[in-house]
Amino acid sequence: MSDPQIIVNGQSRPLVGVPAHSNTLDFLRGLGLTGAKEGCAEGECGACAVLVCRPSGEGSRWTPVNSCLVPASALDGQEVVTAEGLGSPERLHPVQAEMARAGGSQCGYCTPGFVCSMAAEYYRSEGDFDVEAMSGNLCRCTGYRPIRDAALALGSPPDGDPLAERQQRPAPGPGANRPADLAAALGLLRDHPRRHGRRRGHRLRRRGQPAGAAFAVHRARRPPARAPHAVDW
Ligand code: FES
Ligand code: FES
Repeated sequence: MSDPQIIVNGQSRPLVGVPAHSNTLDFLRGLGLTGAKEGCAEGECGACAVLVCRPSGEGSRWTPVNSCLVPASALDGQEVVTAEGLGSPERLHPVQAEMARAGGSQCGYCTPGFVCSMAAEYYRSEGDFDVEAMSGNLCRCTGYRPIRDAALALGSPPDGDPLAERQQRPAPGPGANRPADLAAALGLLRDHPRRHGRRRGHRLRRRGQPAGAAFAVHRARRPPARAPHAVDW
């Protein structure tokens, strides 16, 4: 089994040592990719949007995802593109170029998220852009008309566009941390107990007990389950 990793903007980024509760937004910003922003941290504003390569028919589709909601480890083995990966100041992506031309950015806080959502629709629609694709992105200072104008000015991706071509191939399968079913999850726990074990099991094992005994003790100490309607008078 290979070490967990995410392909970010074409580069392998290890997940080893990343806490299980870390979200993808913090993971990316920790790498120095600070385009994605935290606005609401609860999936409402789209400031943290990035693109993830997801399965679509025989090929794949660049899908905008609110990175504040997704644990980094859930993207093990997946491909992610951020606003930095779309283009650079010297070589803007068509979406970034249209946003600049239309004046679609003022303070810029929301812009990388808008750019990612717009890019996903650019690659999906191939010229028939649906502005509703950006309904999950909020901007509090520019106003939406220039952003809409930028989106509607977009054509189709040119021949040879690497992200458009990527969609012709299947998306990556689930990584080591994303077992496809219960049997695969139990197999991972069996084969890699130290890597996937529960914190309490690890602590008790350090005292010399095998994991099975540790869990048995933990279960025995738990109070019995109460009926949902039980009330203490
Ligand atoms: S920070 Fe607002 S949706 Fe993620
Ligand atoms: S440009 Fe300021 S919030 Fe959108």
